[in-house]
Amino acid sequence: MRPLLFPLESLIYGPPYAGLKNLIRSPEPLDPESTWRLITCDKPAAYELVCNHWPLRPLRPLLLHAKMKQDHVLGIAEHYDVSNDFYELFLDKKYMFYTCADFEGEDDSLETAQQRKADFILDLIDPKPGEKILELGCGWGAMLKRIYEQTGDKENLYGLTLSKEQIAYNDQHNGFQVEFDDFINREYEPKKFDVIYSIGAWEHVRPHEIAPLSKKLYRALKPGGRLVQHFFCRVPDHLFATIICSQIYFPGSLGSPYRANVKAFEDAGFKITQRTIHDYRPTLRAWFDNLVANRERALELVDVQTYNRYLTFFPVSWRYFEDGLGMLVRWVMKKPS
Ligand SMILES: C[S@@+](CC[C@H](N)C(=O)[O-])C[C@H]1O[C@@H](n2cnc3c(N)ncnc32)[C@H](O)[C@@H]1O
Repeated sequence: MRPLLFPLESLIYGPPYAGLKNLIRSPEPLDPESTWRLITCDKPAAYELVCNHWPLRPLRPLLLHAKMKQDHVLGIAEHYDVSNDFYELFLDKKYMFYTCADFEGEDDSLETAQQRKADFILDLIDPKPGEKILELGCGWGAMLKRIYEQTGDKENLYGLTLSKEQIAYNDQHNGFQVEFDDFINREYEPKKFDVIYSIGAWEHVRPHEIAPLSKKLYRALKPGGRLVQHFFCRVPDHLFATIICSQIYFPGSLGSPYRANVKAFEDAGFKITQRTIHDYRPTLRAWFDNLVANRERALELVDVQTYNRYLTFFPVSWRYFEDGLGMLVRWVMKKPS
């Protein structure tokens, strides 16, 4: 079956997609270093040329449309509901952030870099006890934990996720008010929150959903409220091949260009007050190294194909940022008082 699927998928989706799927389907766990090298190395010009023209242009809207039929709930479950114990093997121990950390030097550990990121975002959120604070896509509760450390106020911290595993983890370890709900399609009570923030969740919002969601979030904030975001967006010369490959890892999710985000938020009424750009690559390499170091335990927790999917996901994402196809932004936006 595997030898047949490769040419078929190459023909429809192009060689990068087919190549990755072929690697993931390997019946054996992939060799880490050769996989990292294979995915991150510069490719011959002929390969790049094929990638630029494949899938064929007339097919692209159809292929994307088919992939975008994927329901948000099922798409999120496919990526996140693997096993909490599996994620614990490669994420930082203290918070379990599944988002880009702030590495400053070669000697930084993932723990140090995630602590630095948490402190950076804490400054942007600037939480005060008694303020109602909502995280869109709260994962395993990493940033909610950091805010709670600062304010000591658990009652006013809220989170939303579409992962049942994360809900179970939160109930067991954190006890924040985390709900299983879709932050894109839900209704929000007007003027309820002082702060709404998202870290690494906005990437799941499809381009046509940005403008209506920005307006909903604007209405959900109190006058003077803050919206803080950490997310990566696509740069304009994004290759279609990378969009299609991203469906292997995040079915049904589709990031959006930077400009579209700025426009949607400013049209909704927000004023951008701070903006910084960050480097995702060291975090991706750290997760990869942790997964490899825990390979035996990982293979007790998930099947070989799931292990291979993650082992390819980190170098694919590393290459994406290395090529400047995505840009990781943090910003603070204010709703005028
Ligand atoms: C990359 S994780 C980031 C988690 C966390 N913010 C962190 O920094 O570790 C993305 C999170 O967004 C959530 N998410 C994505 N799309 C969502 C949606 N439409 N509604 C609710 N949660 C969503 C996922 O369930 C997951 O918890």
